[in-house]
Amino acid sequence: MFDAERPTGTKPEIYRQLALMAEGLFHGERDGIANAANLSGLLWMGLADLNWAGFYFLRGAELVLGPFQGKPACVRIAMGRGVCGTAAARRETIVVPDVEAFPGHIACDAASRSEIVVPLLANGRMIGVLDLDSPVEGRFDSEDAQGLEALAALWVAASDPV
Ligand code: SME
Repeated sequence: MFDAERPTGTKPEIYRQLALMAEGLFHGERDGIANAANLSGLLWMGLADLNWAGFYFLRGAELVLGPFQGKPACVRIAMGRGVCGTAAARRETIVVPDVEAFPGHIACDAASRSEIVVPLLANGRMIGVLDLDSPVEGRFDSEDAQGLEALAALWVAASDPV
């Protein structure tokens, strides 16, 4: 059983606490789907103002929906398409303060106003992305990028290839 409160403090403090909780959840478990499911649940519990948090995994030339929290979402996203496919193709985190200003943004949930997508890199190989959406414009910044990149790296290190 996992019984924890939503962490409080500055964003870096919140992400440090989430990283400790993630390490606890991953301990002794190498299954990437199970760890991704728990990480999406942890983010959903631990971060304010989200309407979606989850994973897409690279399958051939497409990203395919993985474990998530939020409303049902688009299943397949081509590399280079949308925020997810762009972050995957560039292999870099993309922060979108206003999704309506991002050309090609794919609206899975009409409530989304801002978004952050972090690529999952395992030994230099792009294996998927971690995607968070918010109903609040400008919800994500460079501190979220740093914190989520650290959590993505913990997931990669803790998990066998999915
Ligand atoms: N908005 C994303 C699609 C995935 S959903 O937000 C869950 C994009 O533009 O790639």
